[in-house]
Amino acid sequence: MVFAKISQVAHYAPEQVVSNDDLAKIMETSDEWIRTRTGILRRHISKDETTSDLATEVAQKLLDQSKLSAEDLDFIIVATITPDSLMPSTAARVQANIGASGAFAFDVTAACSGFIFALSAADKYISSGMYQRGIVIGSETLSKVIDWSDRSTAVLFGDGAGGVLLEASDQPAILAESLNTDGSRGHSLESCYLGLSSPYSGQEMDRKYLTMDGRAVFDFAIRDVTKSIQKLIGDASLEADKIDYFLLHQANDRMLDKMAKKLGVSREKIPANMMEYGNTSAASIPILLSECVENHCIKLDGSQKILLTGFGGGLTWGTLLVTI
Ligand code: ACO
Repeated sequence: MVFAKISQVAHYAPEQVVSNDDLAKIMETSDEWIRTRTGILRRHISKDETTSDLATEVAQKLLDQSKLSAEDLDFIIVATITPDSLMPSTAARVQANIGASGAFAFDVTAACSGFIFALSAADKYISSGMYQRGIVIGSETLSKVIDWSDRSTAVLFGDGAGGVLLEASDQPAILAESLNTDGSRGHSLESCYLGLSSPYSGQEMDRKYLTMDGRAVFDFAIRDVTKSIQKLIGDASLEADKIDYFLLHQANDRMLDKMAKKLGVSREKIPANMMEYGNTSAASIPILLSECVENHCIKLDGSQKILLTGFGGGLTWGTLLVTI
């Protein structure tokens, strides 16, 4: 049997950092409001790097760390809701930038669950035996779809990218998974609506900016997402305390407190970095994973069980229980 193993992790964020106090200079908000409601202290905002530029930095780091050549890659998947363009895909741009001429490449659009959905698909490519190695990246420049005149969303998001190199292995990495979508609740989170526009149709307005019913999304995360994590742990015949870390989507620290309580898990097992990055949608989990490896709490030596959970627009939510 062949399985897929996460052999390298990496992340990258634009240099420019915007603090809560910086935001308070351009909108009616305060560090106190943002910090106490969300846990966010600052975020990275791109000056001139695009989503594919951020993803290319991550892809290059993964290659440098692994000493592989770009030509060794079979595929590149980028999860993003802020692509440079719909065509070519962000992944195709990365493929060209790093010179991975043998890799097929495409984007996944599943908002904050995008990295989880993409990692699950990549795992199946490798465990089918057809492909040996590939890169999965979450990359976002959410700053370009934020309505900077809407303080209720503008303070929440940031730019960044993170990713993993997956390689064929004889040890199973994904032990259990649960992927979910409820399109009927899609209106809770919307962005970049492309209206019809042709001589044969009515003219519908494009609506670029991200809108969110924050309370509905908060409740969805606490209720539905937590329930699906509990079910996955139960189905895998595991106890929550046998899991070393829970890497949950980084939207709001208060939300993580509530999820920890419902799951009966100590907050020490649920790391957070939204203080530094804000919500980076598809990039949030791989950035966190990469930072955890950097600070040695996660080791990539096959000895730990880690739960990765994304949730957001779609609505989508997904959990992978991995040995790492
Ligand atoms: N600064 C100051 N005041 C503000 C701000 C701000 N930035 N934003 C809103 N307020 C005000 C509101 O106007 C409101 O004032 P009012 O009571 O006078 O009307 C008050 O603060 C409370 O607003 P609420 O929206 O009720 O605040 P809430 O406590 O619900 O927190 C928040 C809002 C932080 C957005 C929370 O609902 C949340 O985190 N939701 C989840 C978001 C999330 O998880 N997103 C993940 C998916 S993202 C994706 O998929 C791309």
